[in-house]
Amino acid sequence: MPLISFKKAQTILTVPAGSNLMINLQAAGIPVASSCNGDGVCAKCKITILEGAENLSPENEIEIFLREKNEIPIHQRISCQTKVFGDIKIDASYW
Ligand code: FES
Repeated sequence: MPLISFKKAQTILTVPAGSNLMINLQAAGIPVASSCNGDGVCAKCKITILEGAENLSPENEIEIFLREKNEIPIHQRISCQTKVFGDIKIDASYW
């Protein structure tokens, strides 16, 4: 199963392949900024991908729209729209 590791913490999460990144983080008690609760509207849930970007689902239409509208850099993903298929290392400015 995929592992999620963090830049600023020793915590490592083991998550099911194909599971939602934001839901995995919240389930582990890790805060994720959001004002739309994962509906793909606010773009606040963006997470920086430090390693393993190739192990994430391709961007869907919602994420592509939010990225263009909010000028989100390519190394960040909208976590509520992203599925995890392999190991990643991540960070967020507020962690
Ligand atoms: S939580 Fe609002 S877009 Fe992801």
